[in-house]
Amino acid sequence: MILVTGGAGYIGTHTCVELLNAGYAVTVFDNFCNSNPESLKRVERITGKKLQWIRGDCRNRDELIAALKQSGASAVIHFAGLKAVGESVEHPLWYYDNNVIGTLRLLEAMQECGVRILVFSSSATVYGDPHRLPLAEDHPLSPTSPYGRSKLMIEEILRDVQHSDQSFQMGILRYFNPVGAHPSGLIGEDPQGIPNNLMPFVAQVAVGRREALNVWGNDYPTPDGTGVRDYIHVVDLALGHLKALEALQAAQRAQTSPFSGCLTVNLGTGRGYSVLDVVNAYEQACGRPIPYQVAPRRPGDIACFYADPQQAKTLIGWQANLDLNAMCASSWHWQSTNPNGYHT
Ligand code: NAD
Ligand code: UFG
Repeated sequence: MILVTGGAGYIGTHTCVELLNAGYAVTVFDNFCNSNPESLKRVERITGKKLQWIRGDCRNRDELIAALKQSGASAVIHFAGLKAVGESVEHPLWYYDNNVIGTLRLLEAMQECGVRILVFSSSATVYGDPHRLPLAEDHPLSPTSPYGRSKLMIEEILRDVQHSDQSFQMGILRYFNPVGAHPSGLIGEDPQGIPNNLMPFVAQVAVGRREALNVWGNDYPTPDGTGVRDYIHVVDLALGHLKALEALQAAQRAQTSPFSGCLTVNLGTGRGYSVLDVVNAYEQACGRPIPYQVAPRRPGDIACFYADPQQAKTLIGWQANLDLNAMCASSWHWQSTNPNGYHT
C-alpha cells in the first residue's frame, strides 16, 4: 500500500494511475485545497480499480498517523504542497507553513508508524540561475523564490533525517516543467483562476477561454529570443516515481544505502524548447492559431533551463520517452473535452 499525499492534484492523479496499473494499492491523503475529489473518480475510471482517499492536512500529525495506520502503507509519495512562485513571494509564510511544516509533520508521523520509504516532489527551481547547462544534480543550489527555498529546506531536512537514520530510504525528484495529460483525456491540469504556467495558458487560449497569450519577453539570449524550458510529459514524470519507488524498495530489502544519502535525480528530458516552439507545436495539435503578443519580461524569469537527465537513467533506469507533440496533443485532448476542467 502506498500513501500518496496530494494525490488528487495534477501530478498526483497521473502517478496514482501508474501505481494502480502496476498493481499497487493506493490511499490518497489530500485536503483538496487545490483539487477536487472528482479527479480521483476519474483515476478509478481510467484504471478500472478502486483507491482509498482520506481528506486530511499534512500539517496535522495525528491525521497523518491515522492515515498511515488505517492504510497500512509501506511507503509515502509526497506531492502535497503549494506551488505558485508569485504567490510565494507575496505570502511566504503560507509556503513555509504548508510545504516545510507539512513535510516535518509527515516525517514525524512516518517515524512514529515505522514507515521508512519517502519519495518527495522537489523542483528544478532549487538550482536557481544556472551557472552551466545542462543542469546536473551537483549544480549549486540557490533558489530565488520562497517557493524554491521551501523545496530546498525540505531537501536539507530529508538529507539530515536520512543521515541520522540510515533505515530511511528517501528519493528527491527534481522536476523540470511538467505538462500534458493522460492520453484518456480524463485527467489533466486544472488550474484555478488565471494560469501562471505556459502550457495551461496556451490550452485555455486554444479552447477560447482566453483571448491571447502574453509571451513574456523575446529579447533573451536564446535562438528566438523567448525563454527556453525542459518540458516533460506528466505521464513520463509519473513513471519516474514508480522507478524511484522500486529502487528505494530494493534498497530497503537489501538493507543497503546505495545512493550515499538520499536518491536525488532530475526528471527532465534534457531538451529545451522556447515559448514559440510550444506555441507552434500546440497549433499543430489543436489545428487552430494561438494568438499571442510579446509583452515585457516576467520578473525573476530565467532565459534558459534544461536538465542533464543522465543520473536518473543510471540510478533508477528511467528516461523520458514522450516528445513535445505528444505533450501538446494530450493537453489539447484534456482541454477540449473538459474546457472547464473538472467543473465541466
Ligand atoms: P497540485 O496543486 O495540482 O497538487 C497538489 C495537491 O496537494 C493538491 O491536490 C492539493 O489539494 C494538495 N495539498 C496542498 N497542500 C496540502 C496539505 N497541507 N495537506 C494535504 N494536501 C495538500 O500540484 P502539482 O502540480 O500536482 O504538484 C505536486 C507537487 O510537485 C508539489 O509539491 C509541487 O510543488 C511539485 N512540483 C510541481 C511542478 C509543476 O510545475 N506542476 C514543478 C515542480 C515541482
Ligand atoms: N511564459 C509566457 N507566458 C505565459 C506563461 C509563461 O511567455 O503566460 C513563458 C515564461 O516566461 C517562461 C516559459 O513560458 O519562459 C515557461 O514558464 P512557466 O511559468 O510555464 O514555467 P517556469 O519555468 O517559469 O516555472 C515552472 C514552475 C515552477 C518551477 C519551475 C522549475 O511554475 O514552479 O518550472 O521546475 F519551479
